[in-house]
Amino acid sequence: MLEVESSGHTPVLPRQVCDLLGVRCGDVVVDATVGLAGHAALLAQQLGPEGVLVGLDVDPANLAIAKETLAACEARVELVHANFAELPDALAELNLPRVDVLLADLGVSSTQLDDGARGFSFQHDGPLDMRMDPRLKVTASDLVNGLKENDLSDVLYRNAQEFASRRIAKRICNVRRDGRITTTGRLVRIICDALHIADPNSRRSRIHPATRTFLGLRMAVNEEIANLAALLKQAPSLLAPDGRIGIIAFHSVEDRAVKIDFRERKKEEIYQLTNKRPIVAEADERAANPRSRSAKLRVAVRL
Ligand SMILES: C[S@@+](CC[C@H](N)C(=O)[O-])C[C@H]1O[C@@H](n2cnc3c(N)ncnc32)[C@H](O)[C@@H]1O
Repeated sequence: MLEVESSGHTPVLPRQVCDLLGVRCGDVVVDATVGLAGHAALLAQQLGPEGVLVGLDVDPANLAIAKETLAACEARVELVHANFAELPDALAELNLPRVDVLLADLGVSSTQLDDGARGFSFQHDGPLDMRMDPRLKVTASDLVNGLKENDLSDVLYRNAQEFASRRIAKRICNVRRDGRITTTGRLVRIICDALHIADPNSRRSRIHPATRTFLGLRMAVNEEIANLAALLKQAPSLLAPDGRIGIIAFHSVEDRAVKIDFRERKKEEIYQLTNKRPIVAEADERAANPRSRSAKLRVAVRL
């Protein structure tokens, strides 16, 4: 499997991303979610000294890691602390009017998930934060303690298809009358109580009972669907003719948004799709990198 040696980080679907995005020497490549620069380092290898790699991320801590990983790149590297919803502005600042390859690998990185202090994980106790971008003002704790019961239920159902959203929202609203819910551990216990689960880790269920609640809250805090919609809307006007866009999604709500957008653009003869179905990881990658199991890559070519 392809690995980026300097960080030891293995990005998902590395071969498929490189093959389908087909970076050429001298291209302008945008990695809209540069993260730990796993994909970016691979794409940069194909760029040569004339090429430009622009890496965006909302998380300055990940940008610092990306900077080290990409330090030895031959290509011009521009790392920008920005949301990909602001991509046109970021490119205008860099005086880069057209993009040849645009990649977005959605969601959170392992560094964010594994750091209990960031509040993304139901496996580590920590503050109920979940902001990828420290400039954001509203945390998961603000939503859990401040939203009306119906709105909280909608956040869990619409963003993460949590079918027990009403029961969980009701329980949260009852508990918070006795004081603010401020930690991930407390929220996990409330979810388990709402679902009558004594020990979440002893269950044979495929996913932890808090998975969807945490996903729904994270998506709301970081406005992930609105940001993805903005990126999808802006992409056709940023891509050069024959330019390629690849999006990797990890759950059905995101993947559906990409699928519908690409299908509409195909009808309008703006995009041609490289594959009818999304690209998924093969057995060896799924075994070696559990994160790859839910990854779906869709790629389109700008006509
Ligand atoms: C799955 S990781 C990307 C991993 C990367 N492809 C690699 O190989 O290391 C997603 C990254 O996107 C960032 N991110 C999420 N939403 C973003 C947005 N709207 N704009 C810019 N960056 C975003 C996160 O902070 C995180 O670092």
